[in-house]
Amino acid sequence: MVPDSDIGQSCHLMSLVNQVMLRLRTLTQVALTVIGARLTAAHVQELNSMINYIEVGRWLRSRGFTPTPRHADRWLLYAAIAERIQGDRVLFLEFGVYEGYTLRRWAELLTHPATSLHGFDSFMGLPEDWDECARRGGVA
Ligand SMILES: C[S@@+](CC[C@H](N)C(=O)[O-])C[C@H]1O[C@@H](n2cnc3c(N)ncnc32)[C@H](O)[C@@H]1O
Repeated sequence: MVPDSDIGQSCHLMSLVNQVMLRLRTLTQVALTVIGARLTAAHVQELNSMINYIEVGRWLRSRGFTPTPRHADRWLLYAAIAERIQGDRVLFLEFGVYEGYTLRRWAELLTHPATSLHGFDSFMGLPEDWDECARRGGVA
């Protein structure tokens, strides 16, 4: 049996912890708002895209993906994938090639003589605003 006085103390402690957490949350919100007031839309976009990796991690795990190793950028990721399929005949389709950076890189990486690569694009740019930096009609 836990004495009533111990239960009372424990509830009091939890209540204090909750109050402190609430206060910290409010202070954090105020601090972030002050910081936000000094940033450009592009800075905020950059921060948001970093935070989005939390959602990427959650999404991957919820679907049973455990990507290891992590690659520093997409070029290193492409190279790692290409290593695994080296020698395979590949049909590569890319929808939205822009200036063909990715398509060209894959053309270098995929070496099987019967591999074929096809790129598609309206060349009219993004159909809608993507973010603060990539606006409707951009990347065309
Ligand atoms: C972000 S860029 C692609 C970048 C490219 N995948 C790369 O890795 O370098 C998006 C491209 O998709 C094209 N695009 C967007 N919506 C399209 C649509 N509905 N049909 C065809 N092309 C589209 C745009 O013209 C633009 O060139």
